[in-house]
Amino acid sequence: MKLFLDSANITYVEEIAAWGVLDGVTTNPSLVAKEGGDFRQTVLAMCQIVPCVSAQVTATESAEMIAQGTEYSSWHKHIVVKVPMTTEGLKAIHHFSGKGIKTNTTLVFSVPQAILAAKAGATMISPFIGRLDDIGEDGMRLIADIMEVWRHERFSTEVLVASTRHPRHIVDAAKLGAHICTVPYEVFKKLPMHPLTDSGLQKFLSDWQKVQK
Ligand code: G3P
Repeated sequence: MKLFLDSANITYVEEIAAWGVLDGVTTNPSLVAKEGGDFRQTVLAMCQIVPCVSAQVTATESAEMIAQGTEYSSWHKHIVVKVPMTTEGLKAIHHFSGKGIKTNTTLVFSVPQAILAAKAGATMISPFIGRLDDIGEDGMRLIADIMEVWRHERFSTEVLVASTRHPRHIVDAAKLGAHICTVPYEVFKKLPMHPLTDSGLQKFLSDWQKVQK
């Protein structure tokens, strides 16, 4: 499973990429607004570090989505145009698919939406599991259902598990065979941690110190 960082913070991208585990970055208008700065410059800086950077269109009509996404894709070959899961978005995704422009369908909350996005030619779909959990539904159940459908349909569209909230989400997504998981910075920092690693290392080092002259 590929691991993406869900962030518009270039320092965070540099930090996690230095671990040698980062396959891409996902941004959205909320994350970009939180960080401030120039959107194009931010995205281009990320493209220097990872091979896949999602940049979301903010238009709501397909013609404008197409214009915006076409411009984004001209900035760098690592850019994936992120398009919301609306009927206008489907038209734009279909257009981009025909042009060989990669897309990530965002705000996917159901299996029918996932199927439509795949049929329209999406490169990736982003089901938001945390937001389903937030309203008392089972976000990971949606991933299980989508992966089951994918086994029958053999769509080439990659399933990108988004809106993850804690390490268990990453484990469950991997066990279900999801292709990609995008992880917020705070959650990413928890992934290498284990108290037994810390205490074990402390003991190795203190035992070693005892035999040093
Ligand atoms: O980037 C899309 C998604 O991961 C957003 O997550 O935490 O705002 O639900 P969240």
